[in-house]
Amino acid sequence: MNFKDKIIYEIYIKSFKDSDGNGVGDIRGITSKLDYLKDLGVDLIWITPFFCSPLKDNGYDISDYYSIDPLFGTMADFKELVSEAEKRSIGIMLDMVFNHTSTEHEWFKRALNKEEKYMNYYIFSDKPTNWVSKFGGGAWKYVENLDRYYLHLFDETQADLNWDNPDVREELKKIIRFWKEIGVKGFRFDVINLISKPEVFEDDLIGDGRRFYSDGKKVNAYLKELIEDTGIADYCTIGEMSSTDLSSCVEYSKAENRELSMVFNFHHLKIDYQDKDKWKLMKPDVKELKDLFSTWQMTMQKENGWNALFWCNHDQPRAVSRFGNDRYFWKRSAKMLAILQYLMRGTPVLYQGEELGQTNAYFSDLSQYRDVESINYYQILIDQGMSQQESLHILSERSRDNGRTQMLWDDSSNNGFSDGKPWIEYVPAIRKANVKDEEMDDDSILNFYKKLIRYRKSRNSLIYGSIDFIETIYDNIFVYTRKFDQEETLVISNFTEKIAEMEIDLKDYKIVLSNMDGMEYKNGILTLREYEAMVLERI
Ligand code: GLC
Repeated sequence: MNFKDKIIYEIYIKSFKDSDGNGVGDIRGITSKLDYLKDLGVDLIWITPFFCSPLKDNGYDISDYYSIDPLFGTMADFKELVSEAEKRSIGIMLDMVFNHTSTEHEWFKRALNKEEKYMNYYIFSDKPTNWVSKFGGGAWKYVENLDRYYLHLFDETQADLNWDNPDVREELKKIIRFWKEIGVKGFRFDVINLISKPEVFEDDLIGDGRRFYSDGKKVNAYLKELIEDTGIADYCTIGEMSSTDLSSCVEYSKAENRELSMVFNFHHLKIDYQDKDKWKLMKPDVKELKDLFSTWQMTMQKENGWNALFWCNHDQPRAVSRFGNDRYFWKRSAKMLAILQYLMRGTPVLYQGEELGQTNAYFSDLSQYRDVESINYYQILIDQGMSQQESLHILSERSRDNGRTQMLWDDSSNNGFSDGKPWIEYVPAIRKANVKDEEMDDDSILNFYKKLIRYRKSRNSLIYGSIDFIETIYDNIFVYTRKFDQEETLVISNFTEKIAEMEIDLKDYKIVLSNMDGMEYKNGILTLREYEAMVLERI
């Protein structure tokens, strides 16, 4: 499949659309909104996990990879979704959580029962290391009747699989073949660069352990094997990479390696972490962002790798609240973010509600949170001596629940998401965007996304073209060109509220898309207003 010209849209199933009034989004809810997605210009939908799960981590803790959790629907519902999507030329991508299973999975239960075969499916050790779990606390849990510890890089109910065991790899291939049969067109692989653990487990004396298990030695070999043996080299596959580096991402995504179509990396979403710590707030370091974009883009281009382009997902706060200004420049900053990100070299992956300019949840009370990581970290921050108020403030900026509130369909009760009580509330603290209102407003963020997507698809330079960054003296001004044959597109964005005057020769260009009316260009000087962004074509 050619994935370069595609638009991918992530659906966080729990919060997208509830069809049966139980307050939780479901598969039939998605089917009912396919026309909306088609109209937006979406080609592939990545749906977060809906398999049987105790839902400690909202489905990223799978207890049966072959069945659908009744909370989300039935196999018949899923088959209907696949066929309805196909009628609209939309492909479905599933989220494969293969680094770990739920501790409720039959394999793990049998391991606890001392069945040798299944003990080898997981990573048990007599001696734990000092590694820290991504959700806080230690990464090993003691099991009394085995007198051993098992590794869990995430919650203690998510036990890491032992990929060095060929039987495990065969089990995982079977799962892919099963869903492929049903007509799935692609896969997103959860934290896939964590699957190859070291041969010897040792304490990390200078860090939290991640340097020992991220981008491990055999990730490439295991990926190649998985992709080859299941025959999905031509499917759309995205690998989520945790604490990765650029050269590993090149290897995972370069076409000739036949591993993944593209990769998610998160470096650009850590520019507001102080000392690389998610729980320490800092203003975004715009210069760093600019450096990251150009380094990653230029290297991926040179080495034939491919990026997934994104700002938002179900693990991130909303970009417009985080990098834009959702109070005073809501529409303008949301549109700037879209122009800057989605015209670079790579495949755009939008996240539900982003196209509406949906903002953070701005919860003020701990009881409003649902996410295991947020709840754990609240306690960790308090234990570190922080006040309740400070801890809640950090959560309101950093919690994953910011991105997990319900999709806003209209202005009826529960925003048209559900007839029942939603599993997570949405308090319209600042801005109440919704699909219905935005569809009727020519100047809305939604209509802008539609225009931008249509435009991207109409330009070879934006799909297949090369990218080049143009130096400016301002950290907040991002300028790049995309070129293919004779076609050239120029993209200019002001990432902040700082107004800048830039010398640039635009006489051979015409403006085709912008988040403002007109442009201020006189005597070779372009004045870029707060969050102004524009797209120009060489005539
Ligand atoms: C990924 C998922 C996240 C999940 C974690 C563990 O980062 O996106 O939601 O909690 O993996 O599976």
